[in-house]
Amino acid sequence: FIHSTQRCAMEVFENHILGTNSAGKILFFEDAQQQTKLAQKWAFDESMIEELGKNEFFMPGMVDTHIHAPQYSFIGTGMERPLLEWLEHTTFPIEDTYGDLGTASNVYNSVVRRTLKNGTTTACYFATIHTDASIVLADIASHYGQRAFIGKICMDSNNTYPQYKESTEESIKETQRFVEALNKKKYDRVKPIVTPRFAVTCSEKLLNELGNLAEEHQLHIQSHISESLAEIKEVLNQFPNYKNYTDVYDRNKLLTDKTVMAHGCHLSNEELHVFRERGAAISHCPNSNISLCSGFLDVRNILKHKVKLGFGTDVAGGYSISLLDTIRKAVETSKILFMEKQKRQKETNEINKLQKEKLDTDKVNVNGKDSILEMETEYKVLSIEEAFQLATLGGCEALSIDHITGNFEVGKEFDALLINPETTDSPFEVFSNIPKKDMIQRFLYLGDDRNIKAVYVSGRCVVPFPNNS
Ligand code: GUN
Ligand code: FE
Repeated sequence: FIHSTQRCAMEVFENHILGTNSAGKILFFEDAQQQTKLAQKWAFDESMIEELGKNEFFMPGMVDTHIHAPQYSFIGTGMERPLLEWLEHTTFPIEDTYGDLGTASNVYNSVVRRTLKNGTTTACYFATIHTDASIVLADIASHYGQRAFIGKICMDSNNTYPQYKESTEESIKETQRFVEALNKKKYDRVKPIVTPRFAVTCSEKLLNELGNLAEEHQLHIQSHISESLAEIKEVLNQFPNYKNYTDVYDRNKLLTDKTVMAHGCHLSNEELHVFRERGAAISHCPNSNISLCSGFLDVRNILKHKVKLGFGTDVAGGYSISLLDTIRKAVETSKILFMEKQKRQKETNEINKLQKEKLDTDKVNVNGKDSILEMETEYKVLSIEEAFQLATLGGCEALSIDHITGNFEVGKEFDALLINPETTDSPFEVFSNIPKKDMIQRFLYLGDDRNIKAVYVSGRCVVPFPNNS
């Protein structure tokens, strides 16, 4: 078994035994030497114990804190444009067709199956503005047993593609209808989430009323923030009475400890302080940030500010539905930032040297501090273990479900992936003398759904799919 705790990015347990109850909760997780004692204590027959194959291991299920279900229909295409133009030319026209329940049902069925197969046990979805199609997405996630938050998108302004929007009243009324419909269904693990698309396509009145609605019913909230510079400029133009982008959401009660905001690439430290104070989370979507040329999120700075952080694929701004891809892109983004800082450090050192030489020849005696440029000396690249932690436990923290699942602590629900590094068509090799830690790392860097032998949500095996679904 491997998992993360808040303190430790990755713990590896060999020869361990884990048991769940019929509701999928972890009853015990102990050294296998305790097997007989545990069998007596929990009254099970030792012949019921399933042993893993050589080199197989369990890891917690992965959490996609930001994914657009309807955009799965055009994944991997149309990414030549920056964010706002991509929305206008590719995204809005396609999302506009989701009033048709047949289209919605077809794509939503695919996206839920595909994400589950790739190890996403929890997904936080954006649907479209269409309430009934969004309910279909909730039905499908529940049918396949995925843990999910489903957002009917709210947007009452759209300057670039005006046919795709609602009136303010309609947006609020339909959100209420959506929330009521989902509550009435009494799904076990699927919940509604209040979803203003982003400040660019929302009026102040809409943001305000959605904030009130979320407060009144204690609902989760998701949106986008500070993804690209052009977007920020637009928001500052549209909301001149607010201090910054964060302030627009904050003063409309949309930044709470149940909020997850996608991207945040360009948030200032001052804004991060507000996130920290409110307990709001950021969803890091590195594939999308690179694919749409939006910017690089400095993960280390987010962690330094103790802001809750999870990973998002942001399909289809991101071109991969797999969180293994997000893990890799997050590490790579961090390495790019590290190299940029190194380069800047080198240049700073050279300037300082020149400056010092000039001061020496001029024999000017000044307090060196004014003339020497200062640099942050240490920058720690995000490790693969930390990325693993963010893809699992971090995602649960970001969605405020870490008391329910996210690792193998006793009392939590068993959301897990059974990994087989040695499946016949595995994309990587396992040599006999390879240390366990290296094998795990190799899976995180090179593995894919072929290595995911089974997926469990709350103790129930959801992949392989049952024959009749
Ligand atoms: N900002 C507003 N809408 C979207 C969207 O659909 N995708 C991304 N990446 N950013 C957005
Ligand atoms: Fe997005």
